[in-house]
Amino acid sequence: AAPVTAVPHATAAEIIPWLPLETRWPSLSPNPLSLRQYGGFWIPEVMLKSGFAAANSCLEPRPSDVFLSSFPKSGTTWLKALAFATLKRSTHPPSEGNHPLRHCNPHDCIKFLELDLSAGELEALPSPRVVSTHLPYSLLPDNVTKEGSGCRIVYVCRDPKDVLVSFWLFMRRASPSPRVAAQSFTIQEAFELFCQGRCVCGPQWLHVLQYWEASVRRPDSVLFLRYEEMLCEPESHLKKLAEFMSCGFSEEEEEAGVVSAIVELCSLGKLKEMGVNRNGVNIRGTKNEAYFRKGAAGDWSNHMTLEMAQRLDRIVEDALQGTGFTF
Ligand code: A3P
Repeated sequence: AAPVTAVPHATAAEIIPWLPLETRWPSLSPNPLSLRQYGGFWIPEVMLKSGFAAANSCLEPRPSDVFLSSFPKSGTTWLKALAFATLKRSTHPPSEGNHPLRHCNPHDCIKFLELDLSAGELEALPSPRVVSTHLPYSLLPDNVTKEGSGCRIVYVCRDPKDVLVSFWLFMRRASPSPRVAAQSFTIQEAFELFCQGRCVCGPQWLHVLQYWEASVRRPDSVLFLRYEEMLCEPESHLKKLAEFMSCGFSEEEEEAGVVSAIVELCSLGKLKEMGVNRNGVNIRGTKNEAYFRKGAAGDWSNHMTLEMAQRLDRIVEDALQGTGFTF
């Protein structure tokens, strides 16, 4: 069986061709989307090959490091915006006309560990470093998760049905030139693969479970947030996030409306309106607008049948039985 922790680069490159392969998802780039089953998860080959293996061998964690973790389509973009605006508020108050979030997509403000950053670029980031990742907890570099590293991890989780629908619609919207493959890929095809856990970083429920268990074991190091709860009470969640990142809001700031100003700046409606998010493309060639859609809880019901929902719910319930975690 494949090891459950990240391995040094050379070993990863050697073993990739031997790992189980899934190629049925349409690709958004000229290269096919190849998922490999590694450590119990279906990880894009590109993530296995480059960033994560390299980061594992080179990453020197700093106690002030913050990792923003998520399963794709669970609120990553929102979490990045909130964390960035919160950490940078002394140099960039949310009211600033030229605030970076008004001219940069949140993914350009906080980069992905396994996709966007070379070891040198990571090392060059000023403290406190904030990076994001879609890697499962068990595949994070050991020196990040080990006791005493001081690194903090914020995880955002979302209902798997909304994650699936969001992912399926993202694929159709994100391609620089809409591809026939993505356009004709049906929700039923996506659903079958998702139910088998054969999707980017899937099975989604095991991804969530690992982070939830880590948050129970090490609450000072892992903050577990739920997208649906954040939608209901964004301000209280932002305050919790700030406290966790050691930059809690002062009473004066709260009275001056800084918390609500950050929530407003990072709201879906506001970010969606920014020119960069309407017209821009990120470093991987994905249209920024594809990251902002409806931002609702329960939108799955507009795209999946009740029967599909019940089947997925049952799969998830069975897999989580006895763990103490429920969505
Ligand atoms: P929907 O497709 O359900 O609308 P990720 O950022 O992990 O890729 O997740 C994308 C989902 O988060 C999309 O969900 C998107 O609309 C939603 N989203 C993006 N920005 C958001 C924000 N500022 N507030 C709330 N939801 C947001």
